[in-house]
Amino acid sequence: MNIRPRRLRKNPIIRELIAETRLSKDMFVYPHFVVGGKGVKEPINAMPGIHHFSVDELLKDVEIGMKLGINKVLLFGVGEEKSEDASTSYDSNSIVSLAVSALKEKFVNDLYIITDVCVCAYTTHGHCGIVHDSYVDNDKSVEVLAKMALAHAKAGADMIAPSDMMDGRVGAIRQTLDDSGFENTAIMSYTIKFASAYYGPFREAADSAPEFGDRKSYQMDFRNKREAMKEAELDELEGADILMIKPALAYLDVISELRQQTNLPVACYNVSGEYSMVKAAAEKGLIDEQKIVMENMYAFSRAGADIIITYHIREILEKGWL
Ligand code: PBG
Ligand code: ZN
Repeated sequence: MNIRPRRLRKNPIIRELIAETRLSKDMFVYPHFVVGGKGVKEPINAMPGIHHFSVDELLKDVEIGMKLGINKVLLFGVGEEKSEDASTSYDSNSIVSLAVSALKEKFVNDLYIITDVCVCAYTTHGHCGIVHDSYVDNDKSVEVLAKMALAHAKAGADMIAPSDMMDGRVGAIRQTLDDSGFENTAIMSYTIKFASAYYGPFREAADSAPEFGDRKSYQMDFRNKREAMKEAELDELEGADILMIKPALAYLDVISELRQQTNLPVACYNVSGEYSMVKAAAEKGLIDEQKIVMENMYAFSRAGADIIITYHIREILEKGWL
């Protein structure tokens, strides 16, 4: 037998030479949870290592992150006054808008700011849209989402990331941004977002759990991959610049399929539940955290993700795991 694949595994030098998948810090986006007040840096119980930051503390944390090489952040607003119509979500003084302007003032164009656009943290019932007769009304929700996106763009956001899964929201947001002179504000759509139990820890962090029912009438059924490709096709036609899949770990097949079906950049979101499971197992000494985290990151990239959104990136760079 003269075909011996092991020849190319002999030592680290040859293994590095033939590695098919490589990671770069430029592929990663780091999420942040922003709250009101001053001097707040509160650990989030469900997500070890992640905090709620008030804007002043956020500026410090982002500065540290930038020194490590994190120059792309995804912002979530937490703790705003909640209402049926989610009106605080598009207030020009919303926590997110204030955070965006403060970050832009301090870091100008050295930092790329992405904002999550969804109303679940702003509605009394915790659904991702406006509720009418116990049903999330699509078109009314889209109107509010477009206003929220515009508010973030006005504050200086570089990219808008709608995470609600209403039909037609990408097109409506694109139109609203264009009509208001924000044709250069990009859209990364949470295109294929499955109704998933992996968002559990996040809902504690964002105080955004639905009070009745679940999100299955708008988020996707995780059994469906063809329907996922349909969602992606629609978002592409509506003008999305980047297509995101979420969660990531249990959906590598979907990442792989989408990478083959679109010419747009594909992002994956390594969500809170995926993060917290690794952290919890590591705290118990059940796994080698560094090895597990990096195996997961390579898996996302190998599956076809061009962009990885993960709570792990801070620690990965701090500890030099990359
Ligand atoms: C809000 C939103 C969620 C996440 C991102 N944006 C939660 C949800 O849809 O319930 C999840 C992020 C994570 O779990 O890390 N629509
Ligand atoms: Zn939501």
